[in-house]
Amino acid sequence: MSTRPRIARTVPALRRAMEPFARATVALVPTMGALHDGHIALVRQARKRARRVVVSIFVNPTQFAPNEDFGSYPRTFNSDLKALAAEKVELVWAPTAQVMYPEGFATKIDPQGAAKVGLEDTFRPHFFSGVATVVAKLFTQVRPDCALFGEKDYQQLRVVTAMARDLDLGVKVIGIPTVREKDGLAMSSRNAYLTEHERKMAPVLYRTLKASAKAIKQGETIERVLEQGRAHIEQAGFALDYLEARNAGTLAKVQSLKDGPLRLLVAAKIGKTRLIDNIAI
Ligand code: PAF
Repeated sequence: MSTRPRIARTVPALRRAMEPFARATVALVPTMGALHDGHIALVRQARKRARRVVVSIFVNPTQFAPNEDFGSYPRTFNSDLKALAAEKVELVWAPTAQVMYPEGFATKIDPQGAAKVGLEDTFRPHFFSGVATVVAKLFTQVRPDCALFGEKDYQQLRVVTAMARDLDLGVKVIGIPTVREKDGLAMSSRNAYLTEHERKMAPVLYRTLKASAKAIKQGETIERVLEQGRAHIEQAGFALDYLEARNAGTLAKVQSLKDGPLRLLVAAKIGKTRLIDNIAI
């Protein structure tokens, strides 16, 4: 039987729990819980890169706008613990909102660069400041050598990578490829919101990304390919936020393959659920 991970809920408790890790390399996997195979892939990659693995579980209120799904975001703490026990994770950092944002908390990080390129930031203007601030706190609380993030949230990965570098946080940020369902849908805690019909339609996003990447690689004009892709996604019943080709490093706009390496990124709503995905070209 696997042992339940130790749970720390306050910074002093975290420090005590980490005392035995003092001479070991530590990897952090930051999560908001509702763990799926994508998170487990991060834990397994973390294990390959460090002696000790810490997983944080914190549904961060400051990265949700008032009209978003903070209240309904899936919270599955007990089954998350079971999944982490099966991976032999020893320590879970699960602070309360009061611990993270005590009375009088008045500091926030306002990332620029990849955080202001007209993708997620246009549709979720509050998001990257909330993410950067909470991730900086997680890094300074846990003080890991490295931290692993899924490529599914590609813009987030770029923003957090730049933040760790710019603020000399001493944490190596590592991106791990997206884990997909058999039909290509990127794993996400929000997939749990999909109705049966929406779940059937959801892989259209990945299929469109793949077809668009292929056409661009074969030399078709990027703007024409994207126009076709956008129309295809909308015809399938999505409300499209964006389908864009960007420079994979800076997320700046591109004209042709020469501006690469390129990344194709999509965000669209089906019913009430907003899905995002991306692939390399
Ligand atoms: O990707 C997520 O789950 C969250 O944005 C993160 C990085 C844990 C910060 O709350």
